[in-house]
Amino acid sequence: MNSFTFYSPTKVIFGKDAEMHAAREIKAFGGTRVMVVYGGGSVVKSGLLQKITKQLEDNQIPYTTLGGVKPNPLLSLAREGIRQALEFEVDFILAVGGGSVIDTAKAIAHGVANPDIDIWKFWSREAVVEKSLPVGVVLTLSAAGSETSDSAVITNDEIRSKRGLSTEFNRPRFALMNPELTYTLPRYQIMCGIVDIMMHTMERYFSPELGNDLTDEIAESLLRVMIKNGPIALENPTDYHAMSEIMWCGSLSHNGLTGLGGKGDFATHQLGHELSAMFDVAHGASLSAVWDSWARYCFNVNPERFAQFGRKVWGISEGSAEAIGKAAIERTEAFFASVGAPTCFSELGIGVQPDEVVRELADRCVYFGQRTIGSFRVLGRDDVYQIYA
Ligand code: NZQ
Ligand code: ZN
Repeated sequence: MNSFTFYSPTKVIFGKDAEMHAAREIKAFGGTRVMVVYGGGSVVKSGLLQKITKQLEDNQIPYTTLGGVKPNPLLSLAREGIRQALEFEVDFILAVGGGSVIDTAKAIAHGVANPDIDIWKFWSREAVVEKSLPVGVVLTLSAAGSETSDSAVITNDEIRSKRGLSTEFNRPRFALMNPELTYTLPRYQIMCGIVDIMMHTMERYFSPELGNDLTDEIAESLLRVMIKNGPIALENPTDYHAMSEIMWCGSLSHNGLTGLGGKGDFATHQLGHELSAMFDVAHGASLSAVWDSWARYCFNVNPERFAQFGRKVWGISEGSAEAIGKAAIERTEAFFASVGAPTCFSELGIGVQPDEVVRELADRCVYFGQRTIGSFRVLGRDDVYQIYA
């Protein structure tokens, strides 16, 4: 086996009524003054926010709230949150929502702990996070995996740049995961979640460093569980079994487990982030729109890996390795289409883009020549252009 470090310190409380442990867990992790962060109103409408704030009141925990987090969350709101959190002297941030809310909570936590550093410097790599505030999560959307991940993705609205930051300081202290809280999700968001969860696993599976059998088996089984339960959840978003399987897949797909001993690729995520930065499209949809192009572009690097993916995930047994690998790409693309996920720019709702826009996307994706993306196949500007085109 290849060596690895596995660190996933988030305490997970999973199941019905999990959200009722919020006050207790905040106290257990030392929180005494709390900022509750939420999104555009789904948690107000569902009554969840009120359930949480009542617990805080019943436990005499002073709190302030920050709502209005948008999908593809903005740096400007995180900055506003930091200002308010400092004023209220909070020592704990509670995210009640999906990935965008959680990532905003993480950004606020870093900003409050480092009031003299402009937080964007953490994302632009001009500064390193060395301390942060504790963050807890009440999850309402199975998708980003931010409830257990070491990453946070923020969009700088001034320069239209969407960037991820990986640091162990991004790991939430706890995640309260009640699948029933996802029953109110629109089908589009369930679909985006299915794609994102699968992609977090596939981005690790297509790695230049292979050989950890258990890692592969975990990844393959997680993908099979998603392929089985995704369509059931879309058909009936109140199916507890399907929604709970998806929820747990979401956390395990992005806490590191599915890639131990390998080197994540994550090119598709970088390609997708650029689309979200430019067109504000949903994250999951941005991934399915480019994955098949990425896969076909990178296929020849290791056809046998695509064949293993075909055999173990899609159950394809007939034909040469090359044929099975190619069929696996087609099956994945067809699965995405079957759950309503876009597989091209037009389906993503941005239309066919003129060449100068595609070139700009490619330039931005490689930070104007300052980086390459991917590891399965390392991609430079021209490769990125070919994949987008
Ligand atoms: O804002 P509200 O009103 O709450 O509505 C949200 C939002 O419109 C809605 N929603 C959430 N829970 C709901 C609900 N609606 C009804 N019922 C519920 N229970 O869903 C919409 C999308 O929410 P968002 O948080 O944006 O979705 P998601 O969890 O997919 O997060 C996407 C963000 O996470 C980033 C993405 O790039 C994107 O910015 N990612 C974060 C990662 C991480 N931190 O580890 C990794 C991922 O790869 C990803 O990049
Ligand atoms: Zn993702």
